[in-house]
Amino acid sequence: MEMNQLDYLKPIEITEGIYWVGFVDNGASLHCNPYIIVDDDEVVLIDGGSRDEFSTVMLKILRVGINPKDIKSLIYHHSDPDLCASLPQFEAIINSNDLKIISDRAEHTFIKYYSSFDSSKSERVSIDELDYEYEFKSGRILKFISTPYAHAPGSFMTYDVKTKTLFSSDIFGSFNKNWSLYTHLHNECENCNPKEICAITNRECTMNGIIKFHQRVMASSKALEYALEQIKSLDTRLIAPQHGSIIEGEFDKEVIIKHLESLENVGFECYTNWRNK
Ligand SMILES: [Fe+2]
Ligand SMILES: [Fe+2]
Repeated sequence: MEMNQLDYLKPIEITEGIYWVGFVDNGASLHCNPYIIVDDDEVVLIDGGSRDEFSTVMLKILRVGINPKDIKSLIYHHSDPDLCASLPQFEAIINSNDLKIISDRAEHTFIKYYSSFDSSKSERVSIDELDYEYEFKSGRILKFISTPYAHAPGSFMTYDVKTKTLFSSDIFGSFNKNWSLYTHLHNECENCNPKEICAITNRECTMNGIIKFHQRVMASSKALEYALEQIKSLDTRLIAPQHGSIIEGEFDKEVIIKHLESLENVGFECYTNWRNK
């Protein structure tokens, strides 16, 4: 996908029936990526976004042609405010007794504080109650894959079997001020030593942004290793993270995994090493 062909003011269909409904946050080093999956008249929203982003995200959903009532489920991969804080606004506009809020049991412990139980009509459903699968009316299946402590206790990812799209949540996220919707790695990235500025593009280094994000956000290298094993075992065509840029194809996926597998100073180790400097 060529980035200069993309109009970020519009929702972008990243694959059949899956739309990026985020926006460009100029100057920010952290971008948030909400997505919707549209399957006939059944819509699932993934990691809807923060309170301030609600109107932009909702407008994009409307521009896809979605009636808010068709949103049947909100999937939250963990309980952070960057993905969950607009939950009460979505509940209000969808206004349906059938709306389901899907997350891991450990994350529901915190997600429930975003909206009051008195005013909320929606049902909180844990992925284990669904046997780690969501089935659309059409039979299309989303699989939920737990990635504990990468970075939250109940973190998980969602895999759309039909399009082989993996919504990886914070895994494969990045810090990058030169944001684009798609990741663009070069052959040299495979064995490079990532620096602040890429020697090839003379711009902010993509791998460096990914590495820094994982060192600071993931809980530990063990948790990250476990999550990467889950990703390696999946046949993916697209990886759509909640931060940073979408990863297409095998080469970029393999290069990023290779760098992350050899990563030191992740999470608690990053913090203690930094403190001792
Ligand atoms: Fe997070
Ligand atoms: Fe996040």
